[in-house]
Amino acid sequence: MRHLLDARDLTRADAVQVLDTAAEMAATQSREIKKLPTLRGRTVVNLFFEDSTRTRISFETAAKRLSADVINFSAKGSSVSKGESLKDTALTLQAMGADGIVIRHHASGAPHLLAHAGWVDAAVVNAGDGTHQHPTQALLDAFTIRRHLADRGVAGSGEGFDARRGVGKDLAGLKVAIVGDVLHSRVARSNVQLLTTLGAEVTLVAPPTLVPVGVGTWPCTVSYDLDATLAERPDAVMMLRVQRERMSAAGGGYFPSPLEYSRLYGLDQRRLATLAEHAVIMHPGPMNRGLEISAQAADAARSVVVEQVSNGVAVRMAVLYLTLAGSGTAAPVPTSKEL
Ligand code: CP
Repeated sequence: MRHLLDARDLTRADAVQVLDTAAEMAATQSREIKKLPTLRGRTVVNLFFEDSTRTRISFETAAKRLSADVINFSAKGSSVSKGESLKDTALTLQAMGADGIVIRHHASGAPHLLAHAGWVDAAVVNAGDGTHQHPTQALLDAFTIRRHLADRGVAGSGEGFDARRGVGKDLAGLKVAIVGDVLHSRVARSNVQLLTTLGAEVTLVAPPTLVPVGVGTWPCTVSYDLDATLAERPDAVMMLRVQRERMSAAGGGYFPSPLEYSRLYGLDQRRLATLAEHAVIMHPGPMNRGLEISAQAADAARSVVVEQVSNGVAVRMAVLYLTLAGSGTAAPVPTSKEL
């Protein structure tokens, strides 16, 4: 894998390879000595033009656990605030010898430009661009669903599935509901692509005003009725953050109002009680407690929100390994003994 820019670039085999590599990485993280020598001598730059807690910290942790040198770059406090362009920032990083650049940018397409404009030789990993894509979030979500559901036999299949090692499984036969502000959500776009590539059936649930134009071409079903979707017993319910900052940036308020929103689309105590026994609750974070998700749902035993964050480290270790140390999709998946 040269770069990771878009969930649509991953075939089923690519995605399973990342998940299997992440499983090996996760196994190494339960040991006393967590650090692996895999990326010793490589430099990874975390280039963040937009705020982040989980993604930035987990990429930093992942790179350090692989023994890479890490440079954290935040637009705030850098020469970007003096007007420096993405190109000149990229040329500066190239001059400093970056091997990998993890980029989050408010403009959709910025990671693609960085990877293909010829400014840098580094592998580029998209850590979220505008409302477009967040592929490592989708990978960690798939990893979390697989751990909870496919690995426990709820569903999942896959050519080359190795039951003993628990690798090779996809998400075939699983139903995932993604609920909320789909319009502004790069997480929803990436998850629809990746989860369906892995065989899951995805239903998007949102108020009509928060459904993007063109959603009819996406490989999923769209519903405006959360209760009707929950009655179909999804295996995973992924709540999305209502992105109020992107709504005000667009110059308007939104409909429904917060009160109507939580009544119609919030995961509350009543809806929580209707979920299938094995169903998991997910949220990419940060959460608006009391708006899209109640405190009871966020903190429920079936909530895997915190686990999503810890799985993010293993998944990002796998992505850094496959883009910086691997040699394309044919690279063998390392076992925890080999790493
Ligand atoms: N899920 C996610 O991208 O969170 P952060 O914005 O905190 O990185």
